[in-house]
Amino acid sequence: MVEDLRLDSLEGVGPVTTRKLSDAGVHNVMDLIVRGPVEISEITGMEKDTAEKIVNKARQHLVEGGLIAKDFVSASEIYKHRQSIGKITTGTNCLDTLFDGGIETQSLTEVYGEFGCGKTQFAHTLSVMVQKSKAEGGLDGGVLYIDTENTFRPERIVSIAQAHEMDPEKVLDRIVVARAYNSAHQTLILEEAGSIIEENNIKLIVVDSAVGLFRAEYLGRGTLSVRQQKLNHFVHLLSRIAETYDCAALATNQVMASPDVFFGDPTRPVGGNVVAHTSTYRIYFKKSGKKRIARMVDSPHHPEEEVIFALGEAGVMDIEEAEKKTKKTSKKETTKKSTTKKAKEPKVEAKVDTPEVEAKVDTPEVEAKVDTPEVEAKVEPMMDPEFDYEPIEE
Ligand SMILES: Nc1ncnc2c1ncn2[C@@H]1O[C@H](COP(=O)(O)OP(=O)(O)OP(=O)(O)O)[C@@H](O)[C@H]1O
Ligand SMILES: [Mg+2]
Repeated sequence: MVEDLRLDSLEGVGPVTTRKLSDAGVHNVMDLIVRGPVEISEITGMEKDTAEKIVNKARQHLVEGGLIAKDFVSASEIYKHRQSIGKITTGTNCLDTLFDGGIETQSLTEVYGEFGCGKTQFAHTLSVMVQKSKAEGGLDGGVLYIDTENTFRPERIVSIAQAHEMDPEKVLDRIVVARAYNSAHQTLILEEAGSIIEENNIKLIVVDSAVGLFRAEYLGRGTLSVRQQKLNHFVHLLSRIAETYDCAALATNQVMASPDVFFGDPTRPVGGNVVAHTSTYRIYFKKSGKKRIARMVDSPHHPEEEVIFALGEAGVMDIEEAEKKTKKTSKKETTKKSTTKKAKEPKVEAKVDTPEVEAKVDTPEVEAKVDTPEVEAKVEPMMDPEFDYEPIEE
């Protein structure tokens, strides 16, 4: 199959064109489809017509090889094809229900929400879960993790893997991390990802955050359209890669509730919407004390519903699981503390007979790292779950 995908397997593509293409980062037939004729002509300097011909040949080649769908297909063929789409379990019952089994390959899933709502934790969890066997809800695949905010933490992978009884070293080995330093670099990484995806049997591409660098670099009114254009290019590239290489793509997007929206029309398009138009699935994460709420916002076939989940050592977790764990921890802590802190903490002590209340008082993993109360207080009153876009920049 790899032989089939070589550029020179296309009729009329000789060594000169092959060289031109690979110099521009296009290494195989898949890459031709992913980049498309306009871009191919831009990056190689070849005529648009020529680029179109080559890309069409590439498409035909892949259709003949059964790797991509032909142009006209019956609904039943699409239905059959959809049955074969892979799903990655989230490792929780609640989020699997929301996603109807897990996040899909050949699709782009966008998770958005304010800081600390669990987007990165979710990305880490999926990076572990995708490695599980198909029988266990994974795809036995590797991960390409594009980290734009320097928040990828191997330690988190280790503890999530342990919580799911997987070998942490093996799990770490199958995650290829690419740290992106600016938006152009972030795009370049993706443009050149083809061979890495194939060589490592990548089934999940994470981009955390997809939007952050673009937002930071293109500030202010004058640059908004350039930013959107560049972001648009990136996001389309990501979804074409997901489709062509049969991977799941997960993009995170930090949004803030802005006081501005109360004065304008909250539904008018603002910056973050480029991603929304392209992603197949959009999920909104919201903080609710130590719990988190996930809502399926925009999906071609899921009902708009909400589930509650928690964050813990195992990454994203079902509430019941998280509470079981925290109960165990707090019981231990209560025994430890009871001799020394009795006099100081009469209120907590009084609650010892009601284990559920006690468990909620000391929830070190979940609660301890939750944002400082001042920050939380600043954000909560502005929150409106109906519209959580980034601040309007016009
Ligand atoms: N080891 C852990 N155990 C329990 N909870 C944890 C652990 N590590 C992180 N968390 C929780 O995850 C939260 C941070 O979530 P995360 O980093 O996924 O947010 P985010 O949505 O990516 O935010 P940002 O937009 O700033 O990137 C912390 O506030 C904490 O509640
Ligand atoms: Mg994050």
